Amino acid sequence: MAPTSSFALPATVVALATSLCAVPTASMLLPRQDAVTPVPATEIAGFKPYTWFAAAANCNASLTIDWSCGEKCDANPGFQPVASGGDGVVTQFWYVGYDPTLDEIIVGHQGTDFNKILPIITDLLIKQVPLDSALFPGIQESVLVHQGFAGTQSRSAPGVVAAVEEALSTYPTRKVTVVGHSLGAVIALLDAVYLPLHLPSNVTVRYVGYASPRVGNQAFADYVEAQPVSFTRINNKEDPVPVLPPIDLFGYHHPSGEIHIRDDDVWVSCPGQDNPSVQCSAGAVTLLNWNASQHLGPYDGVMIGGC
Ligand SMILES: *[C@@H]1O[C@H](CO)[C@@H](O)[C@H](O)[C@H]1NC(C)=O
Ligand SMILES: *[C@@H]1O[C@H](CO)[C@@H](O)[C@H](O)[C@H]1NC(C)=O
Ligand SMILES: *[C@@H]1O[C@H](CO)[C@@H](O)[C@H](O)[C@H]1NC(C)=O
Repeated sequence: MAPTSSFALPATVVALATSLCAVPTASMLLPRQDAVTPVPATEIAGFKPYTWFAAAANCNASLTIDWSCGEKCDANPGFQPVASGGDGVVTQFWYVGYDPTLDEIIVGHQGTDFNKILPIITDLLIKQVPLDSALFPGIQESVLVHQGFAGTQSRSAPGVVAAVEEALSTYPTRKVTVVGHSLGAVIALLDAVYLPLHLPSNVTVRYVGYASPRVGNQAFADYVEAQPVSFTRINNKEDPVPVLPPIDLFGYHHPSGEIHIRDDDVWVSCPGQDNPSVQCSAGAVTLLNWNASQHLGPYDGVMIGGC
């Protein structure tokens, strides 16, 4: 990746400029979107454990395996780790365990800061490829995802599914929630459609992602939405990552399920794919106002990033 990263900045400027142009076009072509509505305070509070779980995933596997990563671990004090993996270099760190308060199995994937996600999004692996049918049996060839993202998820996938199976056999729950921030949100999204293909049908999977870039094409976004999985992606203010890669230039689309944190700190639910409202990421983030320091949060007071 090193040789291509020197092109990251110009590519991003092009990408952002293109995504700006994409907004009015998209809003003309898309069917009318349902109304943007505020998220109730109780629902916002309900996301907080997952925000901390996404933050803890940035910690070294040697710290998540005994849940000793400091405040990010202490925020969910009853958590019982089952397995941790990755090296934080080639394979993003991950962990799997059981939270007795939520009565859920949690899968966490390590994220990235803005300077690290940018070259990954914009490098040559921005081209779209089909998902590996060994990991995603029965997936249609028209479902395409970012090549770099697919490769990243494939490296942790076997270890994650084995750990989730172990957790399901150890603890009484049938609920699995997959979380992550930035690149971790990408891996978590792919895991949320990968895991149900390998787990018993009485297991329910939920996805809570933060600051995810777009992962795949229109067929991928539609495929995601067709799964019996609950998807929520939470985006902060003018963080540019959720509007990359742009819709027009490279044909990337988000599935539904956005919650956007407005400049006045109000959380709003943005129905539909890439809702173009100025209250939602696709409408709010422009070439003039994008702000990379908002990538790490705060999300209801929680900063994600580092360990
Ligand atoms: C993770 O922790 C291990 C053991 O302490 C250490 O050897 C390794 O370098 C750490 N990895 C990273 C990416 O910091
Ligand atoms: C869920 O399905 C698995 C495998 O089919 C089965 O062994 C288990 O008993 C089921 N659990 C519940 C709670 O229905
Ligand atoms: C960018 O975001 C940071 C963190 O939220 C904020 O302090 C700063 O004022 C923002 N910059 C602009 C130009 O809005």
